[in-house]
Amino acid sequence: MELPDYVKARARSKDKVLREDYVLDDNLKSIGVGKKYFLKTYGCQMNEHDSENLKAMLEELGFVEVDDYNNADLVLLNTCSIRENAHNKAFGMLGRLKHVKESTNPDLIVGLCGCMAQEEGVVNELMHKYKWVNFVFGTHNIHRLPYILNDALQANKQQIEVLSREGNIIEGIPVKRASNHKAYVNIIYGCDKFCTYCIVPYTRGKQRSRDPKDIVKEVEELVKDGYKEVTLLGQNVNAYGKDFDYTYTMENLLEDVSKTGIPRIFFMTSHPWDFTDGMIDVISKCDNVMPYVHLPVQSGSSRILKLMGRRYTKESYLELFDKIRGRVPRVSISTDIIVGFPGEEEEDFLDTLDLVEHCKYDNAFTFIYSPRENTAAAKLANQVDESVKEERLQRLNSVVNKYFLENNQKLVGEVFPVLVEGVSSKKNELFGYTDTFKLINFEGDSSLIGEIINVKVVEAKTWSLDGEIVK
Ligand code: 5AD
Ligand code: SF4
Repeated sequence: MELPDYVKARARSKDKVLREDYVLDDNLKSIGVGKKYFLKTYGCQMNEHDSENLKAMLEELGFVEVDDYNNADLVLLNTCSIRENAHNKAFGMLGRLKHVKESTNPDLIVGLCGCMAQEEGVVNELMHKYKWVNFVFGTHNIHRLPYILNDALQANKQQIEVLSREGNIIEGIPVKRASNHKAYVNIIYGCDKFCTYCIVPYTRGKQRSRDPKDIVKEVEELVKDGYKEVTLLGQNVNAYGKDFDYTYTMENLLEDVSKTGIPRIFFMTSHPWDFTDGMIDVISKCDNVMPYVHLPVQSGSSRILKLMGRRYTKESYLELFDKIRGRVPRVSISTDIIVGFPGEEEEDFLDTLDLVEHCKYDNAFTFIYSPRENTAAAKLANQVDESVKEERLQRLNSVVNKYFLENNQKLVGEVFPVLVEGVSSKKNELFGYTDTFKLINFEGDSSLIGEIINVKVVEAKTWSLDGEIVK
C-alpha cells in the first residue's frame, strides 16, 4: 500500500525525468473478458485525456464500455480536486455506488483515481469510511491500472497505490480518443507555480515536459489518421521545455507541430508569466496555430494577485493582453477569474470588474474561491463570507456575459472556418468551433462532420453563434 504525502508531493527534485515505455504483461490481457466497465470523468481536459488512456487500457484487458453504472462489473471514477464541488460530486457518486453494491450488485468492483486520489485527506477517508472501494491510484501511475486492477480482482482487500513523487514520463499508453477529428495531446505534466489557492502542484507533481520528438510523432500520426485539430495540453504550456538541459521552448514546439501540417492547433493553459513575445509572433505567423489564447487573470487587484502568488500585476497583465490583441489579428482571448480569495475587499473586486471592462473577454470561467487542503491560501485567517462571494460572482457574471454577447454581435456577417463536430441537440443542426474557439450552430448535412468549412455568422447569442454554410 502506498499513500499520498504532501511533503513529498511539494518537493521539487532536480533529478532528470526519464522516458519509459508502457508495457502490459501478456497474462493480464484477458482479465476483463466478458466484463463491462463504466468510467466517469470529472474536471479538466487533462483528466478527460487521461480517461482516454484509461478506457484504452481497460479495453486491452477485454472490458467493454457501458453507459449505465447499474449494468457495469467495474466502475472507475477519474476525479478532480480543483474546488469543493468537484469533491462533493465524486463523493455523491460513491454514495450511489455503495447503494448498488448493497442492493443489486454485491460483486461490483469500484475504483477511484485522478487528482482526489493524491489528497491525504481523501485517501484517509476512503481507508476508514469507504473500505468497500476496491482500489485507488493516483495521477502519477495511471499506466499501472492493469496491475492494480488485477490485484483488486484477486485480493479481498482495498488496494491503494498513490505515488507522491511523480515518476518518469510514460510513453505509448494506449488511447481511445473521444473524437475522430480533434485530439488532445499532452505536452507538459505538472506545475511548479504554486499559486497559493491551487492544489494542482500537489496533485500533478513537478513540471515535466514530454520530449518534442514524441509530441511531433504523435501529431504526425494523428494527421495520417485524418485528424484535423490538436489541443496541446498542460497546466502551464508556456513553461514547456524549461526542464530540458537544452534550449527548446514552447515557441519551438508550436513551430515544429505547425510543420506537421495538422490544420488546427490550439494550446492551453497559458500562465501570463511565461508568455513570451516570441510566442505571440508564432501565433500570428503560423496559419495553423489558431488565434485563440486562454489567459487566466484570476484577479484584477495587484494586491490580491500578490497574495495569490501570480507573479504579475494588473498593469503588467494588461500590457501583455493588449500586446496579444494588437499583434494577433482576429484573436479571441478567454480567462479564468476567482472571486472571494481570502482578504478580498470590495475595492479589490472593483479592480477585477475594471479589468474585465478593459479586456472585454470573449469567454471567462468564473469561480468562487474554494479553500483546498494543504494550500497556503486555505490557511489564511480572513476568509470571505459565502454570501459576499456569491454576490460578487453574480455581479462579475453579469459584466462578463454582457461582453460575450457584445463581442458575438460584432461578428454577425463575418465568415469563419469551422471544424464540424457533430449534430447539435437541436435536431437538423450541426455544431462546431470557429478558429477563434466560438461555438457555432448551423444547418447542414451530417456528412460534413469532420470537415473544416466556411460558416457565416447570422445571429449572436451570449454563449454561441448561429450561422449558415457559405458555399
Ligand atoms: N478555488 C476556486 N477556483 C480555483 N481554481 C484553481 N484553484 C481554485 C480554488 N481553490 C480555478 C483557477 C484556475 C482554474 C482551472 O480553476 O481560476 O485557473
Ligand atoms: Fe494551479 Fe497556478 Fe499551476 Fe495553474 S499555474 S495549475 S493555477 S498553481
